[in-house]
This record gives sequence, C-alpha cells and structure tokens, in this order.
Amino acid sequence: MGKRYGRTCSQQPGIATFASFPKGRIVAPSMDFQGKNVVLAGGSSGIGASLLETLSGNGAEVTTLGRRPVEGTAAHISFDAESGDEIEGLPEAIHGLAYCPGTITLKPFHRLSEDDFLRDFRVNLLGAVKVLQAALPGMKKAGSASVVLFSTVAVGTGLGFHASIASAKGAVEGLARSLACEWAPNIRVNVIAPSLTNTPLASSLLGSEEKREASEKRHPLKAVGDPSDVAGLAAFLLGDESKFISGQVLRPDGGLSSLRPL
Ligand SMILES: NC(=O)c1ccc[n+]([C@@H]2O[C@H](COP(=O)([O-])OP(=O)(O)OC[C@H]3O[C@@H](n4cnc5c(N)ncnc54)[C@H](OP(=O)(O)O)[C@@H]3O)[C@@H](O)[C@H]2O)c1
Repeated sequence: MGKRYGRTCSQQPGIATFASFPKGRIVAPSMDFQGKNVVLAGGSSGIGASLLETLSGNGAEVTTLGRRPVEGTAAHISFDAESGDEIEGLPEAIHGLAYCPGTITLKPFHRLSEDDFLRDFRVNLLGAVKVLQAALPGMKKAGSASVVLFSTVAVGTGLGFHASIASAKGAVEGLARSLACEWAPNIRVNVIAPSLTNTPLASSLLGSEEKREASEKRHPLKAVGDPSDVAGLAAFLLGDESKFISGQVLRPDGGLSSLRPL
C-alpha cells in the first residue's frame, strides 16, 4: 500500500469536498455576458438559434444578421452572404462575433460545378470576411473581443463527396489563424469544426430513423451532434472563460476526427 501523507481534503478545515457541493447544481465557471454586445450572423436556425438562446439567457445584447428576421434581439440586420450589400447598423462597440451561415454541398467531384464552388466560397468564406470587416471598428472600440467561425470535420478528415465544402471551410480555417495572429492580443479568433449536427442544414442526411442511426454508428461516441452541444462551445469561446485560447480549431465531432475504435 502507498504511503499516506497528512490528512485527506475532507479532513482539512476550509477545503470544500465534492460531497459538500449542493446536489443538482452544476459547479462551473460563470458565463456572464452582461453589458456585452455580440454580433451573430445566422441566429434564425440550428446552431446559431441555440447560441442566440444561450447568449441572451446570459445577458448579452445580441444583434443578428441574416435573411429571415429574428425577433426579440437588440437589433436585426438584413444580410445575405450571397449578395454584395453593405452591412450597416452594427453596434458601436462589439465584444463578440459569431458567423454561422454555411452550406452542405455533397456531390461526387466530377459533378461539382464552378457555381457550386463559388456559392460555397461566398456563403462560408466571403460572407464571413464581409461581416468581419464591417465589425472590426466595433471590436477595436470594445478593447477586447472574441470571434467564432465555423468549419467542418471534413477539413481535418478526408470524407468523400465533400470537395467543395471542405475547400471553402479549409479557407475559413486559414482565415481564422491568420486573423488570430494579426489581431492578437486584443481580438481572439477561433474555429469550431463540428461533425454532423441535427439542424435544418443537415436534414437531408438525418431525415429518417435509418439515416440517423447509420450516422450515429459512424461516430465513436455513437451520436450525432445536438445544436446545443456546438452552441455551448461557441458561447464558451465568445466569453471571458476562454481568454487564453486563440487561433484554434475545436472539434465537437463525436470523436470522428481522432478516434478509431478497434
Ligand atoms: N449541421 C451540421 O451537420 C454541420 C456540420 C458541420 C459544420 N456545420 C457548420 O455549422 C454552421 C451552422 O450550421 P447549422 O447546421 O446551424 O445551419 P442552419 O440550421 O442552416 O442555420 C444557418 C443559419 O445561417 C443563416 N444563413 C444561411 N445562409 C445564409 C446566407 N446566404 N446569408 C445569410 N445568412 C445565411 C440562416 O439564416 P437565414 O436563413 O435566416 O438567412 C441560419 O440562421 C455552418 O457554418 C455549417 O457549415 C454544420
């Protein structure tokens, strides 16, 4: 038996033990967005809608951008990533920015057209560039800010039929790392690269019980993502709890990119 040194935690006065935490309460760092303005592109659906709920529920003033109006936010700005319209009406000071618009264009390579590639680049990369450029003065004004962009598991892991979307999201990852360096130390930039997540965007892949089960089986954690799994990570990256993290690609992907069960 190993030698025991001193008293255990539970015997030391003033040191909390696991047993002394109130039951049923999550003991976690606080997520406080009081007094913070967050710009959220794509808050009407899926991961963005879940993120909007989390941010608003924790005190953020959220300005949404997108094609469909979103109610109950500080402001909504009409924005189509495929158009060249100017973005006007962003808050003067911006503490956080998340860009959620994305595409899933899955085709064999020989069937992908130039228009497929261009659309994927416009929505995933150039739309983000546009929002980032419009928001930069506000992020500088805020003194410090955090940006979250979205990639896909198909950039770090080769998946058939993903050539167009993987190209566009690979560009997003390159953009994010470059900006994370250019804008340090005041503005952090990180990327979330999810695997299949149960949102309207993925409905054609998860539209039946059979499809869903097959997708779950492909993941080492035997599940597909829930929007809140991904939105929770985005909220963490937008908040102060992640102040030492920038230039990273985080992977809520059910283990798909890094685990190979025997
Ligand atoms: N779901 C997945 O399986 C999965 C997997 C890997 C990566 N991702 C990435 O995660 C991010 C969020 O995806 P999601 O599944 O939550 O998608 P979603 O449910 O389709 O939501 C996308 C949001 O972006 C907005 N949007 C879409 N196209 C737009 C455009 N052209 N201009 C402006 N806004 C646009 C939509 O709002 P409006 O329609 O109102 O404009 C909507 O609020 C995307 O970048 C996606 O590529 C998702």
